[in-house]
Amino acid sequence: MCGIVGYVGAQQAAPILVEGLTRLEHRGYDSAGLAVLAGTGLKVAKRAGRVRDLADSLPKRFAGKVGIGHTRWATHGPANDVNAHPHGDGKGLVSVVHNGIIDNAAALRHRLADDGVDLVSDTDTEVLAHLIARSGADTLEGKVSEALAAIEGTYGIAVLHVDFPDRIVVARNGSPLIVGVGEREMFVASDLAAIVRHTTTVAHLDDGEIASVTATGFTTYRQDLTATAKSATVVDVDPSSYDAGEHDSFMRKEMFEQPAAAERVLRGRLDERFGTAHLGGLNLDPRENRAIRRVKILGCGSAYYVGQMGAGLVEELARIPADAEAASEFRYRNPIIEPDTLYVAVSQSGETIDTLLAVQEIRRKGGRVVGLVNVVGSAIARECDGGIYLHAGPEVAVASTKALTNMFLGFALLALQLGRVRDLSIADGRRLIAGLSRLPHQIEEVLAQEDALAEVAGRLADAESLFFVGRVRGYPVAREGAQKFKEISYRHAEAYQTSELKHGPLALICETVPTVAIVPADELTDRNVGALHEIAARRGPLVVVTHDGVDLGDLEDRSGVQRIVVPRNERELDPILLTVPLQLLAYHAALRLGHDIDKPRNLAKSVTVE
Ligand code: AGP
Repeated sequence: MCGIVGYVGAQQAAPILVEGLTRLEHRGYDSAGLAVLAGTGLKVAKRAGRVRDLADSLPKRFAGKVGIGHTRWATHGPANDVNAHPHGDGKGLVSVVHNGIIDNAAALRHRLADDGVDLVSDTDTEVLAHLIARSGADTLEGKVSEALAAIEGTYGIAVLHVDFPDRIVVARNGSPLIVGVGEREMFVASDLAAIVRHTTTVAHLDDGEIASVTATGFTTYRQDLTATAKSATVVDVDPSSYDAGEHDSFMRKEMFEQPAAAERVLRGRLDERFGTAHLGGLNLDPRENRAIRRVKILGCGSAYYVGQMGAGLVEELARIPADAEAASEFRYRNPIIEPDTLYVAVSQSGETIDTLLAVQEIRRKGGRVVGLVNVVGSAIARECDGGIYLHAGPEVAVASTKALTNMFLGFALLALQLGRVRDLSIADGRRLIAGLSRLPHQIEEVLAQEDALAEVAGRLADAESLFFVGRVRGYPVAREGAQKFKEISYRHAEAYQTSELKHGPLALICETVPTVAIVPADELTDRNVGALHEIAARRGPLVVVTHDGVDLGDLEDRSGVQRIVVPRNERELDPILLTVPLQLLAYHAALRLGHDIDKPRNLAKSVTVE
């Protein structure tokens, strides 16, 4: 949430910062701003709207070889020109960009106001700029350190000061910050995406660290300014994976990357000989593995829904009680942490604050947590006792697709390993391995139905409100389908267990409220088809996501009933193949409605505030 980029070197900073902000825009896109430092002092440009609006409005003379930039997702105060970052001290001394939330901002604002300070914005960040400007310390590092000592909350910050024109000082507590090393030039960013075109040699700051960055290098400190030894390492990443390429959006690109991403998460982890999975990163030996009596999965949004699919896999394959819970709720109910429970945190970004805080709560109480995380070295990955990296590659679109698919596969691997030290037979283990190996190609088959799915989506897009329904394995699929649909089409899409329809929501079914029903060929097919008849009898339009051979009876020929067929795999693995067409439905509905696919209104890619 919110993006930070900074540059210090021999080039003009503004074009580099604008390019960096464009690559960070998925993290927040309601306003953007820049500050550069030159002999003539600080220059600041900021405004509500997208980065391109800022770029178009930049003054001709905006020179400076040191600079910071920010793209915002509003927390304190509405998205307007004044609340956009950077924020200053009103005297042109200091400029600050900030991700995170200062919890004691209100008290600090009062204190500053009592001292006669005129605060012009509604933001928490502005207090930080004043605290830095008012500090009596004689170095910028000292001023920043002193100001940070007065604040409570989370932050990733970058600071410029006219008296120290050769440097940017950055600090981190709960919001990611990296320092990028170039040839006699240096970068800072909240996300590698912002600087990947310039360097992949980076150092990740830890919470509580401050870094002083000049054109020739960087030095890191603890908040009390004692030095920390931190060196930069080269990140193995292809810069082109941050471009949409031939696709009209990152979401489309990422959906079509799913077969390759699925192969990557499985590579080297399937053991056909013993019918199990190799997951060295979990740091669990077979004895510890066997001692697990319960599995508790924590994630937010789509990561929570795929966690429900994962819990189903664990129960079916390992016969261990398992459930998933929204990480955002977990911490607030004083959860009982059991020594023989395996806690699993699932997150694409690895920085979702609710999931991170849930992990910290579990560890504080002595529980064991493993992570299913996509971003290597992210806060959640670092906080866990072990884990499975998802290898989906960078995911830029706000709507998660390929990371979610790889989360499902990560759960399948985990469930397989847990199952094989219990009662899952070697034959069943091999059956699932064969199924997993078929999945990348089968995902390709679903994606190949794009034209037909676009047509179905066209009809759904006209509905103001719709249901997604499924049972048991199909219910989390329905939840994820509804989530994706509402997220980018802004239509009201509600997920229900098919079995619960007649306990209330059936009252809403009519010719203008379509239902997308998940009806795999499994032990519940007949009951699912029965529910479809109840919907059709009330003239509800139906989209049935199903398998070849499922007999819909006389619904087959009815107008208002459309069928989407996905390939069959092992029934435990059905959920992911049933999910992929729902991504395409959401995408094409949003496209038809003319929405910004990658940057849906009110949302941001990583939710780093509670
Ligand atoms: C997914 O389409 C959503 N944008 C959102 O629900 C997301 O899955 C959630 O915020 C969790 O993010 P994470 O995986 O980075 O933790």
